[in-house]
Amino acid sequence: MSVIDTLAWFQPEIGPRLKPSIEFVFRQWSGLTGEELESHLHRIREQAWPLGEFPCIGLWMFLLPGIAAFPQFPTILETVRRPRAKILDLGCGLGQDLRLLAAHGVSTDRMWALDIEPHLWKLGYELFRDEGRMQALFIHADFLKVNIAGDDRFSPLRGQVDLVLASQFLHLFDWEGQLAANKRIVGLSKPGTMLVGFQQGRKRARAYIRPWGMMFYHNRDSFLELWALVQQQTNTQWTVDVSAVALQDWGMQNEDLEWMPEDRTGINFVITRDS
Ligand SMILES: C[S@@+](CC[C@H](N)C(=O)[O-])C[C@H]1O[C@@H](n2cnc3c(N)ncnc32)[C@H](O)[C@@H]1O
Repeated sequence: MSVIDTLAWFQPEIGPRLKPSIEFVFRQWSGLTGEELESHLHRIREQAWPLGEFPCIGLWMFLLPGIAAFPQFPTILETVRRPRAKILDLGCGLGQDLRLLAAHGVSTDRMWALDIEPHLWKLGYELFRDEGRMQALFIHADFLKVNIAGDDRFSPLRGQVDLVLASQFLHLFDWEGQLAANKRIVGLSKPGTMLVGFQQGRKRARAYIRPWGMMFYHNRDSFLELWALVQQQTNTQWTVDVSAVALQDWGMQNEDLEWMPEDRTGINFVITRDS
């Protein structure tokens, strides 16, 4: 195991990384198109990179379709369009997943966003030009450490969340951390809750050291194994729909993948609580 130089996941140009489903968000929600959008994206990315040096920023992954390309996206929209449905975006970063839903007509006043790094969320207002319109409440917290049971910011969320978004988030933790984080998500859920996201994986599941700590990359089997434990330890039942996909299917370019080992994969998941 070795620590990698973060410049390995920095691409200077946007190239073909901005996909139509996200161009739609900037056009519809932010009123930004064409060259104005392009120079705007460069300016914001420059400010975002030093805030964590994550691949999701360096490789422009915040411009990928993400959950918009999931076959379950219409079902996800149906869930969050229900009256008073509540949405929580964990490790929200710039908050593009919430803006995706907003651009599809989902009201932002029932959205919550949580991140350990508040500057990314603040930059998100600039990125999407929606300060004053984006009503989501931001929770500045370490999701593994915050006292969910005793912290008032979670009162409207405990046992009440309809959709938990966790894109490129849970894999940042080691196995035990992921178990703990998922159990915390269960604590916020109710029957019908969906946990949706995507993250990097490896065909041979294993732990890695990264600048932010130990993380565990799943394959489909290890992901299912982890979720069997989550269900057993929380006495809840969930339908776990998880698939391993090629990272090019997310819209990543071959040159974005060079720093990764050959057995890289993407893990997409939609996990729905039955009882
Ligand atoms: C790889 S980025 C993903 C951001 C966004 N969800 C996306 O898909 O682009 C991971 C995010 O998780 C946040 N994060 C890392 N550890 C965290 C923790 N323990 N609690 C809350 N947020 C955390 C980081 O600050 C960062 O914004």
